[in-house]
Amino acid sequence: MRIYDIILKKREGNILTKEEIEYFVEGYTQGIIPDYQASAFMMALYFQKMNREETVFLTKAMVNSGDILDLSSIKGRKVDKHSTGGVGDTTTLVVAPLVAAAGVPVAKMSGRGLGHTGGTIDKLESFRGFRAEISKEEFIRNVKTSKISIASQTGNLAPADKKLYALRDVTATVDNLSLIAASIMSKKLAAGADAIVLDVKTGRGAFMKNIKDSIDLARTMVEIGNGLGKETIAIISNMDQPLGRTVGNAMEVAEAINTLKGNGPADLFELSMAIATQMLILAKLVEGEREAREKLERVIKDGSALEKFRELIIAQGGDARAIKQPELLPQAKYIIDLKSPQDGFIKEIKADEVGLTALMLGAGRDRKDSKIDLEVGIYLCKKVGEEVKKGEVIAKIHSNNKGIENIISRLMNSFVFTNDKIYPPKLIYGIVRKDGIEYK
Ligand code: URA
Ligand code: CA
Repeated sequence: MRIYDIILKKREGNILTKEEIEYFVEGYTQGIIPDYQASAFMMALYFQKMNREETVFLTKAMVNSGDILDLSSIKGRKVDKHSTGGVGDTTTLVVAPLVAAAGVPVAKMSGRGLGHTGGTIDKLESFRGFRAEISKEEFIRNVKTSKISIASQTGNLAPADKKLYALRDVTATVDNLSLIAASIMSKKLAAGADAIVLDVKTGRGAFMKNIKDSIDLARTMVEIGNGLGKETIAIISNMDQPLGRTVGNAMEVAEAINTLKGNGPADLFELSMAIATQMLILAKLVEGEREAREKLERVIKDGSALEKFRELIIAQGGDARAIKQPELLPQAKYIIDLKSPQDGFIKEIKADEVGLTALMLGAGRDRKDSKIDLEVGIYLCKKVGEEVKKGEVIAKIHSNNKGIENIISRLMNSFVFTNDKIYPPKLIYGIVRKDGIEYK
């Protein structure tokens, strides 16, 4: 077999065999196939797409590119969570401690920023000293002792995804259904949890821009997960405007801390509760949604959810003082106010544009080896549906540079105003399960 022929075959729109897909995944993981051929192949896949069967072959090949974690020594049903990627999406930092405090063992493998979206691992590195790259043994030990660990793709789990993820990030080949499904499900399957809750984002800040594509992606992943023996469900949630009020690594950590204290923005809180509720149900710790919610509200109120977050940071070597003193988190040098040009209401905040603005500030990567700036980001003083007066501050840009006129005007252009009162958009559209969709 030759990789050239496989690239050509896909470029021409043909269906690949299991063997051809495995040949690519193994060759690229082992470094035999170079980045330039893998890039060309990703672009061919992007344009020609894969069918469901090819997607399953790709997922399995990626799972088999490395080890599969055995979590059976950890007591209880392990439930994992993953988002398809959004802007300002801080849910993992809220949900993981929240459900761990409620009794669900969380062994979570997370990623770094991808395209215009942020990544949990980058955010966690806002705690000085935090180690995301830990061994399997340490990962399991932490889940056993404190019910929680969040690691980057530890050791040799789905190494094919680790390489492809970084490559896709910088070659404009992220937003393809099969590539996203295989990327997420290979990680989740290799990570060894018993059940999986997916948060499939939809809207202009998501990789899937419309509901139909998002449901397709959700169904594909739910089918792959259940087909391989893991109970998998997907929540479909809105990503037209950024989630919460912050976009940017350390700023999102501060927002997660506030949310765990019960003082977070309404949308981030609601989505976190919805995901956590489903995790408790899949963990079989509760009878239904009402009981789950009561339990979750209790661990926020009594402080144990926040304490769980602190335990996670300490266990992985981070400076946890920042949890009680958020001013110890990385801070940008300058804060620049963005003011409303008119009276009225916020009609739209284009999440993709806000994400790209954050990227321009330095919050994300434009090359595989770029270093990101944890300090910078955007605070949204106003969100969709809120009233504004002319001259009122609508956003604050946290920057380490002063001459950022192009960034300021780009952020300004992400806001759309209207004179008419409008309501905040729907946050959760529905839940996809193996037997159908429950619309919300
Ligand atoms: N999250 C992932 O882990 N992979 C993708 O491809 C997109 C979002
Ligand atoms: Ca946020």
